[in-house]
Amino acid sequence: MSLDIRPEVPSDADSIAQLTTAAFRTAPASQNEAFIVNALRRAGQLTVSLVAQDGEVLVGHVAFSPVSVSSGAAGWFGLGPISVAPGRQGQGIGSQLMHDALAELRRVGAAGCVVLGDPGYYGRFGFAARPGLVLEGVPPEYFQALSLDGNYPAGAVQYHDTFNATD
Ligand SMILES: CC(C)(COP(=O)(O)OP(=O)(O)OC[C@H]1O[C@@H](n2cnc3c(N)ncnc32)[C@H](O)[C@@H]1OP(=O)(O)O)[C@@H](O)C(=O)NCCC(=O)NCCS
Repeated sequence: MSLDIRPEVPSDADSIAQLTTAAFRTAPASQNEAFIVNALRRAGQLTVSLVAQDGEVLVGHVAFSPVSVSSGAAGWFGLGPISVAPGRQGQGIGSQLMHDALAELRRVGAAGCVVLGDPGYYGRFGFAARPGLVLEGVPPEYFQALSLDGNYPAGAVQYHDTFNATD
């Protein structure tokens, strides 16, 4: 496998949508993830959008978009969605995408990032639930943060409105 991790280009959009839909088909999630990626792109909110390409085929994608923190802390981003093609999961592609996306976030000077997801998966990248940094309506152990500047704000996090996209 020769995997190329690179920023998305405009011609990737349809493949990313198909990949995202396929990856989440059996996941306990909203099934709106592909719409969310498209809406984030249209809104200019895809700060980091990397694809994993194997030959001609896109086999993975990860997105980070800005979030707001009620304390006013700046420079925080939300991870998601992250998708690996169903037939290619468990081969380290998601981990490589995470690694490169976090490096890209550091490069653009991000203060930190949050994720709503399985602590068993994201803990390996340094994410953990942090006291006082919350996402309303979500069990605290599933809402995790990783500071890139050493500081953890306290407050309520809000994702961009496009996370409500349903078509
Ligand atoms: C979650 C996902 C992106 C991970 O990508 P991946 O390429 O399969 O992950 P990796 O191969 O890098 O996995 C690394 C490790 O995480 C584990 N892992 C994968 N998905 C996991 C999950 N949902 N929960 C806990 N552990 C998970 C793997 O078993 C592997 O463990 P190991 O290193 O001890 O063997 C991918 O499985 C996927 O697209 N899932 C469907 C969509 C989804 O649920 N996205 C995340 C929503 S928050």
